Amino acid sequence: MSLSHFCSVNFPAILILELVITSFASCSALGNETDKIALQQFRSLLTDNSAGTLASWNDSHHFCQWTGVTCGLRHQRVTSLNLDGQDLAGTVSPFIGNLLFLQYLNLANNSLHGFIPPEIGRLFRLRNLILSHNTLGGGIPRNLSQCLNLLTLELDYNYLHDRIPSEFGSLLKLQKLSFSNNNLTGPIPASIGNLSSLQVLDLLNNSLIGGVPISTSKTRLKVFVVSENELTGGFPSALYNLSSLNIIGLYHNLFTGRVRRDIGLLLPNLQTLVLGDNQFTGPIPDSLTNASNLATIDIPLNNFSGRVPASFGRLQNLKWLNLLQNFLGSGTTDGLSFLADLANCSNLEMLDLQYNQFKGELPVSVGNLSTQLKQLLMSGNRIHGSIPEVITNLFSLNRLYMDANMLTGNIPMSIGRLSNLHYLNLGQNKLTGHIPSTIGNITGLIDLYLYDNSFEGSIPLSLGNCKSPQEIRLCHNKFTGTIPSHMISPSSLVILLNVSHNSLSGPLPPEVGNLKNLISLDVSYNQISSEIPTSLGDCLGFEEVYMQANHFQGPIPQLGGLKGIRFLDLSNNNLSGKIPEFLVNLSSSLQFLNLSFNNLEGEVTVQRIFGNTSAFKIDGNKELCGGIPELRLPSCPAISISRSIKHRLSKWVMVIIISASCAVALVSLALLFWMRNLKKEHLPTHSLGHFYERISYDALFIATDGFCSSKLIGSGNLYM
Ligand SMILES: *[C@@H]1O[C@H](CO)[C@@H](O)[C@H](O)[C@H]1NC(C)=O
Ligand SMILES: *[C@@H]1O[C@H](CO)[C@@H](O)[C@H](O)[C@H]1NC(C)=O
Ligand SMILES: *[C@@H]1O[C@H](CO)[C@@H](O)[C@H](O)[C@H]1NC(C)=O
Ligand SMILES: *[C@@H]1O[C@H](CO)[C@@H](O)[C@H](O)[C@H]1NC(C)=O
Ligand SMILES: *[C@@H]1O[C@H](CO)[C@@H](O)[C@H](O)[C@H]1NC(C)=O
Ligand SMILES: *[C@@H]1O[C@H](CO)[C@@H](O)[C@H](O)[C@H]1NC(C)=O
Ligand SMILES: *[C@@H]1O[C@H](CO)[C@@H](O)[C@H](O)[C@H]1NC(C)=O
Ligand SMILES: *[C@@H]1O[C@H](CO)[C@@H](O)[C@H](O)[C@H]1NC(C)=O
Ligand SMILES: *[C@@H]1O[C@H](CO)[C@@H](O)[C@H](O)[C@H]1NC(C)=O
Ligand SMILES: *[C@@H]1O[C@H](CO)[C@@H](O)[C@H](O)[C@H]1NC(C)=O
Ligand SMILES: *[C@@H]1O[C@H](CO)[C@@H](O)[C@H](O)[C@H]1NC(C)=O
Ligand SMILES: *[C@@H]1O[C@H](CO)[C@@H](O)[C@H](O)[C@H]1NC(C)=O
Repeated sequence: MSLSHFCSVNFPAILILELVITSFASCSALGNETDKIALQQFRSLLTDNSAGTLASWNDSHHFCQWTGVTCGLRHQRVTSLNLDGQDLAGTVSPFIGNLLFLQYLNLANNSLHGFIPPEIGRLFRLRNLILSHNTLGGGIPRNLSQCLNLLTLELDYNYLHDRIPSEFGSLLKLQKLSFSNNNLTGPIPASIGNLSSLQVLDLLNNSLIGGVPISTSKTRLKVFVVSENELTGGFPSALYNLSSLNIIGLYHNLFTGRVRRDIGLLLPNLQTLVLGDNQFTGPIPDSLTNASNLATIDIPLNNFSGRVPASFGRLQNLKWLNLLQNFLGSGTTDGLSFLADLANCSNLEMLDLQYNQFKGELPVSVGNLSTQLKQLLMSGNRIHGSIPEVITNLFSLNRLYMDANMLTGNIPMSIGRLSNLHYLNLGQNKLTGHIPSTIGNITGLIDLYLYDNSFEGSIPLSLGNCKSPQEIRLCHNKFTGTIPSHMISPSSLVILLNVSHNSLSGPLPPEVGNLKNLISLDVSYNQISSEIPTSLGDCLGFEEVYMQANHFQGPIPQLGGLKGIRFLDLSNNNLSGKIPEFLVNLSSSLQFLNLSFNNLEGEVTVQRIFGNTSAFKIDGNKELCGGIPELRLPSCPAISISRSIKHRLSKWVMVIIISASCAVALVSLALLFWMRNLKKEHLPTHSLGHFYERISYDALFIATDGFCSSKLIGSGNLYM
C-alpha cells in the first residue's frame, strides 16, 4: 500500500515543494486513516514483549492514545513514535514511511533486526531518528539524506555495514550524527565537511579507513570521535581549525606523525584529548596548557618522547593524565621532577606513567599530588630510591602500581593509612624488610602483589582483616615462618594465592579448604611439612594447585571435589601410599599431573590421564608398578597371581588360607601393640623421606613460572 493510493499529490513533489502543505492538508481526512494503517502494519512485524506495550495498540482506543504514539492536535496525525526500550523484536516495516507527519522516531534499545527501511527517507518532517542499540543490519539507506530536517541521526550499536553514504552532505541542519559500534567500512565521506550545523560526529568502533577529510573545517564540531577504526594519516589537520572542539577521540587508529606544537592555542576549548594507541611521535606539546579546561589527556600506547610539560601544573581541571607506554622521560635529566608541578592539579584523579623511560629517584613531592588521586600507576620504569612515607597522604588512592622498577627500602609503616586502596602492586623491585602489620588496616584490599622482592619475616596475620582479597602474590621473596591459618578471611572471595619460592615452613593450614572461591594455589618451593589437608577437596573451583618442592608427607588424600582441576603438581615431596582413585576419574579437565619424586607405591593404571605420557610425570617413585609401557615400570605380579588363585583354587583351600592369614594377622597385631608401647616416644612423626634438588627440573619450573612475574598493563583506558 503506497501513499499515492490515498493522496493525489505525488510524493516527490511534496518533498520538493514543502510549501504545498495546503494541498496536502486536504487529504488529511484520509491521512489519519493512513497513519492508522501504517501503525497497524508496523505492529504486525513486531513480536510482543514482556512490557505488553503493543497490547494497547487495539481498536478500543484511538491510535493517538496507543503507547508511544503522540499526535498533532489539529490533524490527529502521528508526530512522534517513541518505543525506546520496550523490549520489541522483529523488523521495521516500510509502512513507517507513510507516517508523513512524523518528527520524532525512537526505536532504540530493542531487539529489532533486518534492514532500516529506505522509506524512512520520505519522512521529510523528521527531526530525530534514533535506532541505536538494536541488531539492525545492512547498509545505511541513502534515502535518509532526503530527511532534510534531521537534527539528530543516531544509529549506534547495530550491525550496520557498508559505506557511509556521501549523500549525507545534504543534511545541512544535522547537529548530531552518531554511528558508533557498527561495522561501517570505507572512508569518511568528504561531504561530511558540508554539514555546517554538525556539532557531534561519533563514528567510534567501526572499520573505517583512509584519512579524515580536510573540509571538516566548515562544521561547528564540538565532539569529534573516530576512535577504534583503521584511519590513517597524520593528526587530522582539519581539526586544528575547529576552535569550538571540546572532545577529540582518535584512540586506536593508525595515525602517525607529530602533533602540532600550537594545538592548545588553536583549540582553546578542548576538554578531552584521546589519542591513545596510534603511532604519534615527538614531544607532548607544551601549549596544551593553554587549553585551560582540559580535564582528560589520554595518549597511551604511542611513541611520544621527551619531557612531561611542567606547565601541566596549571591545568586546574585536569582529572586524567594517561601516558602509559610511550618513550617519555627519554633523553631528559630531570627525571620525575614534573610530579612536583602536577601537585597544583588539585582535581587529578588518575596518573598513569607506566612503561615509559622515567628514571631517577622517586621524589618526596609525590606525596603532594592531589588528595583526589585514585590511581597512581608507575610500573615498568627505572625509578629508584625508597617509597616515601608521604605517599600515604594520598588517602583516596584505590590503585597503586609501582612494580617493575628499582625501588629499595621498606614499605612505609604508614601504608595502612591508604584505607581506600584496592590494588597494591609493588612486585619486581628490590624492596626489603617486613610487611608492616598495618597492611591489615587496608580492609578493602583486593589484589596484593609483592612478588619478586627481598621481603623477609613472617606473613602478617593482620592480612586476615582484609575483607575481600582476590589475588595475593607474595612469591619469590624471603618470607619465613608458617602460613598463618587466617591470613585470609574465610569469608573472602580469594581466587589466587601464591606464596611460592619463599622459606615458609610448618603445615599447610587446613583452613585453606574454607576458601571456596580459590582457583589457583601455589605454595611450591618452600619447606612446608604436613600432610595434604583433606579439606583441599572442598575447594571446588580449583584449577591449579602447585605444591611441589616441599616436605609434604603421608598419603595423597581423596580430593574428590577437585572436578575442574587442570594443573596439579605434587612432585618433589615425601608423599607415600597409592595413587588415589580420584586422580584417575578427573580425566576431562586435568591437563598436567606431576607426582614425580615422591615415595608412591602400587599400581599405575593405564586409564585416562595415565594413558598419555605427555600429560603426567611419575618418575622418581621407587615402588610403582604397571602403567603404560613407556614408563618402563616393573609389572605388578602380585595382582596377576591373586587373579589366577581366584580362578583355580577351590573354596576349601580359600577357607584355609583365609583362616591362616587371620591367625598370622592377629599375632602380628599383638606383636605390633607390644612394640609400639615399648618405643612410643621414639617413633618418628613423619617418614624420613628425602628431597633431592634437581637443578634442571627446578630451572624449568622457574622459567615457566608465569604466575609470579605476570604483569598488569593499563587499566581503564578511555575508549573515546
Ligand atoms: C479521521 O478524520 C476524520 C475527519 O476529521 C474523522 O471523521 C475520522 O474519525 C478520523 N479517523 C481517525 C481514525 O482518526
Ligand atoms: C486495549 O488497550 C487498552 C489500553 O489502551 C487496554 O487497557 C486494553 O486491555 C487493551 N485490550 C486488549 C484486548 O488488549
Ligand atoms: C537506551 O538505554 C540506555 C540504558 O538504559 C539509556 O541510557 C539510553 O538513553 C536509552 N536510549 C538510547 C537512545 O540509547
Ligand atoms: C529513495 O529515493 C529515490 C530517489 O530519491 C526514490 O526514487 C526511491 O523511490 C526512494 N526509495 C524508497 C524506498 O522510498
Ligand atoms: C566494537 O564493536 C564490535 C562489534 O562490531 C564489538 O564486538 C566490540 O566489543 C566493540 N568494541 C568496543 C571496544 O566496544
Ligand atoms: C566487519 O566487516 C569486515 C568486512 O566487511 C569483516 O571482515 C569483519 O569480520 C566485520 N567485523 C565484524 C565485527 O562483524
Ligand atoms: C559541499 O557543498 C558545496 C556547495 O554547497 C558543493 O559544491 C560541494 O560539492 C559539496 N562537497 C561535498 C564533498 O559534497
Ligand atoms: C584553516 O583555516 C585557515 C584560515 O581560516 C585556512 O587558511 C586553512 O586552509 C584552514 N585549514 C584547514 C586544514 O582547513
Ligand atoms: C600559553 O601558556 C603559556 C604557559 O604555559 C603562557 O606563557 C602563554 O602566555 C599562554 N599563551 C596564550 C596565548 O595564552
Ligand atoms: C614506535 O615505536 C615502536 C616500538 O619501538 C616502533 O616499532 C615503531 O616503528 C615506532 N613508530 C614510529 C612511527 O616511530
Ligand atoms: C603551583 O602553584 C604555586 C602556588 O600557587 C605557584 O607558585 C606555582 O608556580 C604553580 N606551579 C605551576 C607549575 O603552575
Ligand atoms: C592499624 O593497624 C594497627 C596494627 O595492625 C592497629 O594497631 C591500629 O589500631 C590500626 N589502626 C586503625 C585506624 O585501624
